[in-house]
Amino acid sequence: INKIAVLTSGGDAPGMNAAIRAVVRACAFHKLDCVGIFRGYEGLIEGDFKPLGPRSVKNIINKGGTFLKSARSQEFRTKEGRKKAFEQLKKENIDALVAIGGDGTFTGASIFTEEFNFPIVGLPGTIDNDIYGTDVTIGYDTALNTVVEAIDKIRDTANSHNRLFLVEVMGRNAGSIALNAGIGAGAEEILIPEENLGQDRLIESLKRSKKSGKTSSIIVVSEGDQIGKNIFKLAGYIEENLNEYEVRVTVLGHIQRGGAPSCYDRVLASRLGVSAVDTLLDGKSNIMIGISHNQITTVPFSEAIKSSNDLDLELVRVADITSI
Ligand code: F6P
Repeated sequence: INKIAVLTSGGDAPGMNAAIRAVVRACAFHKLDCVGIFRGYEGLIEGDFKPLGPRSVKNIINKGGTFLKSARSQEFRTKEGRKKAFEQLKKENIDALVAIGGDGTFTGASIFTEEFNFPIVGLPGTIDNDIYGTDVTIGYDTALNTVVEAIDKIRDTANSHNRLFLVEVMGRNAGSIALNAGIGAGAEEILIPEENLGQDRLIESLKRSKKSGKTSSIIVVSEGDQIGKNIFKLAGYIEENLNEYEVRVTVLGHIQRGGAPSCYDRVLASRLGVSAVDTLLDGKSNIMIGISHNQITTVPFSEAIKSSNDLDLELVRVADITSI
């Protein structure tokens, strides 16, 4: 291997820049050429490439987003699109690729490596923390801190007005952000897709907490949760059936994807980026690099995308007990 390319794809996540920087600098360390591909698989198909040296990635470890930009490419889902992408890589004499993203990114990467026998290693970059084979994904810790900070602010006003707030958080079909930020922010209830609470049980639980002396309430709702899917309808239902609080809704939205990465995400991204280059030099491909019990691990793309992480029942218990 003489030349490695790096791209970011799918939803951006804080820490992606730190991961790119680590890949670029690990290439320099091993005396390999490195090429940045702009706009994910879109840019790969169009040949939107730029050589990157160690100084090209200065002053980005602290920046949110991804300077290589990101996209969700429809064309890469087609055989013709992938063929064009392969031709672009050949034209530039690129020998291997590091793809930073989530399950969509790894699905594309996996098909591509098998079709063209082209070495790809993936790094998990998504705020959702929904990738099997890694305890955490790049961007997740920062997103959690953003959510907790936002809910702390909401709590101030909820408390002043004796109101109930429904706070919708991202995560797609995974409840990791909701569950962990919910515990961290002291939410009264947490609605996640992995565990269907049901509206009646929610109302009963809110009645109990009101009786126990609570004067305001925060309910963290994961965007993928069944009863939370129409959060404004849920707000109306609670107002009618609980009849205790005025209800307000806050949808945190894309604020959760931005901001300077936390130190944890910067270190994680740096470790995974260095390891990506080591792994390619070891001749491995079609795998994602993750972290398990603070040790670097690898998992085939096929597993990283197929399996979902189980609901952490210990966390659910902690949430139940501490919100009493
Ligand atoms: O996968 C990251 C994520 O932010 C999800 O939590 C969310 O459902 C989705 O991306 C939003 O996608 P978009 O930015 O395309 O609206």
